[in-house]
Amino acid sequence: MGVIEISHVSKCFSPKEGEVHALKDVSVSIEAGDIYGIIGMSGAGKSTLVRCMNYLERPTEGSVKVFNQELGALSEKELRKMRQDIGMIFQHFNLLMQKNVLENVCYPLYIQGVKRREARVKAMELLELVGLADRAKTYPAKLSGGQQQRVAIARALASNPKILLCDEATSALDPQTTASILELLKEINEKFGITIVIITHQMAVVREICNRVTILSSGVVVEEGEVAEVFKHPKSPEAKELIRRDLSGEVDAPVRRPVSQVREGKTFRIVFTENSSYEPVISNVIMQFMEPVNILGANTRNVSGIARGEMLLQLIPDSKHEADIVAYLEERGIAVEEVNADELE
Ligand SMILES: Nc1ncnc2c1ncn2[C@@H]1O[C@H](COP(=O)(O)OP(=O)(O)OP(=O)(O)O)[C@@H](O)[C@H]1O
Ligand SMILES: [Mg+2]
Repeated sequence: MGVIEISHVSKCFSPKEGEVHALKDVSVSIEAGDIYGIIGMSGAGKSTLVRCMNYLERPTEGSVKVFNQELGALSEKELRKMRQDIGMIFQHFNLLMQKNVLENVCYPLYIQGVKRREARVKAMELLELVGLADRAKTYPAKLSGGQQQRVAIARALASNPKILLCDEATSALDPQTTASILELLKEINEKFGITIVIITHQMAVVREICNRVTILSSGVVVEEGEVAEVFKHPKSPEAKELIRRDLSGEVDAPVRRPVSQVREGKTFRIVFTENSSYEPVISNVIMQFMEPVNILGANTRNVSGIARGEMLLQLIPDSKHEADIVAYLEERGIAVEEVNADELE
């Protein structure tokens, strides 16, 4: 029994423009200690699949088991607990830009209630591991892409996860930086025995560090197996094409969706009446729900002598945590109202 067992998972999105079958009867079994690759073209369903592994996305059909627990049977609270065992890193790092490197790594620990001093000791160890101990007080904007990804890796490791999900973690990096990040992931896998899932559209990444691979095409698994075996005897046309491209050194153009396909998330206006700083609240939302929140704008107005802060927040498209996020903010005394996109012009 693998640490992640995806059985017959289908996922259907139903936006206004019509249904999208992002995953169709997908089964994947990932063993403890694997560095498991999931590869496919843009839109193949890779991110959807990886988000099903921590239930940030709920499958329409099928079962997802992590450490032999059926995620569909867990409460929101149990899921949040489970997610502490599953770290995640992304293409665009998603660091908190107003916090320095050390505080970024401490963040998940604070949320778990770890004391400041203890959190900092742990965070420094992790920064040591990723080779950035001397940049602890630096702000993310001052770091290169590769360094930012190292901070994100340190942050993902802070809660001692047993699984690390990497969604296109090297796609924004040049080949040399990619190689150094892959090396770091391999070291983490070997040193701590963390199971790693690598989502990529580059066969070179799979060849470099994965032991097994699944090839997705239009939501369907077209090939699965040991990396060495797939390279030696590719069966599907998709595998053959990916290997041909890898051998010929063709570099993929950055993945870009046509503008019409860019989906916008819901926007909320939140209002603070006290002088309290809103920034920690937003950071908390991001870490608590593991969803990026886009700050579209903010300002402070003086309303009859009382400072009144306003901020426009945009959630990701079809955020599954919309209600929870609104409740979370309201519990902290912040007024929340939804705004229509056309009101914003
Ligand atoms: N929340 C959503 N609502 C509607 N459709 C969605 C949603 N999320 C994904 N899709 C659609 O599902 C399909 C798979 O998307 P997904 O993001 O999983 O692909 P991907 O393989 O990760 O692509 P990329 O390499 O571009 O990141 C696409 O057609 C996408 O437009
Ligand atoms: Mg994706």
